[in-house]
Amino acid sequence: MSSNPSWNPEQYLRFADERLRPAIDLIGRLAHPGPRVVVDLGCGAGNALPLLAARFPGARVMGVDGSAAMLAKAGAAGFPTQQADIATWRPEAPVDVLFSNAALHWLPGHEALFPHLLGLLAPGGVLAVQMPAMHAAPLRALQDRVAATAPWAARLAGIRSAPPILEPGAYYDLLRPHVAALDLWLTEYVHVLHGENPVVQWAMGTSLRPYLDALPETERPAFLAAYAEALAPHYRPQTDGSVLLPFRRLFVLATRPN
Ligand SMILES: C[S@@+](CC[C@H](N)C(=O)[O-])C[C@H]1O[C@@H](n2cnc3c(N)ncnc32)[C@H](O)[C@@H]1O
Repeated sequence: MSSNPSWNPEQYLRFADERLRPAIDLIGRLAHPGPRVVVDLGCGAGNALPLLAARFPGARVMGVDGSAAMLAKAGAAGFPTQQADIATWRPEAPVDVLFSNAALHWLPGHEALFPHLLGLLAPGGVLAVQMPAMHAAPLRALQDRVAATAPWAARLAGIRSAPPILEPGAYYDLLRPHVAALDLWLTEYVHVLHGENPVVQWAMGTSLRPYLDALPETERPAFLAAYAEALAPHYRPQTDGSVLLPFRRLFVLATRPN
């Protein structure tokens, strides 16, 4: 499995509404005249599956994910699922809509991955992808910085979260020669979070997992406290106590020629 940490659906779904919003926005712009097969790559707990089924009634909607814990949730909703690594997964037949929300940034080698995914589409098929573009944001950058300080540096040497995605222009150059239509856009959401250390809680559901996986349970509270302290000046509570988390996401919609 290409760099895929342990996933905890309960922690991930603490912010289910915020995490689903880009999927809703992507599906809102996703057009296909009549797909027979729709696949959600990295479907996780399956939250986007009913939305895809509602958008494309009559299509066979299925989810693919590497995490058994996430798929256990997704399967409970009654959709077919398959446990597989996206990097090596092959569909039985060409796919009409290949959808992926907040998953492909966990895979390296996008220069090869994106053309490969296009190649899995039927004629007229659509690749619809959303990925966080957060590598430089304090949320992500401070994970690396704290992990590189004592006492964690030795234990966390070589541990990284999801690699940075490419610039929009790189996806354009990769995909444009092979598609009939290409739409790229960036959206910065401003999520309004509540509760104690909500940005840490957010990160614990996703990007912080590789570091937590690498630490014994007894050392995690101190690591989380150091991360919370580093984040504090960047995510100050508003007057009502809420914390705002600006979150930038890149969207890619690519349509294969008929
Ligand atoms: C942040 S979650 C997103 C889940 C879902 N798409 C959503 O929007 O709620 C990322 C998901 O991608 C899956 N994933 C990451 N890398 C993967 C890989 N190489 N192969 C299969 N699944 C992968 C994880 O198991 C996880 O469920």
